[in-house]
Amino acid sequence: MKTQPTDLQYLPLDLKRELLPHHVAVIMDGNGRWAKRQGLPRIMGHKAGVNVLKDLLHCCKDWGIKALTAYAFSTENWKRPEEEVEFLMTLFQRVLRQELREMVEENVQIQFVGNLSALPQALQTEISRSMAQTQDNRSIRFTIATNYGSRQEILQACRAIAQKVQEGLLKPDDISEEIFEAHLYTAGVADPDLLIRTSGEMRLSNFLLWQMAYGEIYISDALWPDFNRSEFHRALSAYQQRERRFGKV
Ligand code: FPP
Repeated sequence: MKTQPTDLQYLPLDLKRELLPHHVAVIMDGNGRWAKRQGLPRIMGHKAGVNVLKDLLHCCKDWGIKALTAYAFSTENWKRPEEEVEFLMTLFQRVLRQELREMVEENVQIQFVGNLSALPQALQTEISRSMAQTQDNRSIRFTIATNYGSRQEILQACRAIAQKVQEGLLKPDDISEEIFEAHLYTAGVADPDLLIRTSGEMRLSNFLLWQMAYGEIYISDALWPDFNRSEFHRALSAYQQRERRFGKV
């Protein structure tokens, strides 16, 4: 997981360490448009996007952010051309295999969320291996949402809870936010404080609908392959100007 030497290796002086988000989530949008602008096929945008994600993970570690979640593939992304879907699945598998050793050395905990059972078997194998080998790592928690859809996540939580009610293990009145959260794919992970979406689009696109109830949203005009540490710095500066009230005055 080597990154380019950068003058933003350390937390920029204008950022306050105590006001950093604990958990940052990203919607990595604009890969296709980036590739098109370079006269390249769309898939080259995804390939370039992997390096950006790797550097962002490194950057979060360098600057002291403890959790990063990336939206890699949504339940709706199956509707893309078959070659693109196939390319993405192979890319995930290859990157996982290539990067695992370094993730272990760097104490990164890898976690996947989504309907993983519908992914190609070879990818599922890499996912299980990477999660098992990094489960005790604590420098940063890196969550990759793959075949993830927030509505589907909420529905499967409802079904699991309904089943428990039917079996007499839970009463309807017992269903609290905590119990509900424990049935989401993201059980045990604190909600994101900041969600960054690139390429200027202003939508959640079925990503972390429950978890983003109070999260701050930052839209960057950069296309994902151009999202670098300076852009991240800008996002964090904007975040630190926000007043988070959580419904209070
Ligand atoms: C959205 O851009 C991007 C994706 C659907 C794929 C994102 C995946 C990566 C960057 C690879 C991550 C790798 C690992 C191992 C987690 P788009 O194609 O919708 O762009 P467009 O809106 O310009 O068409």
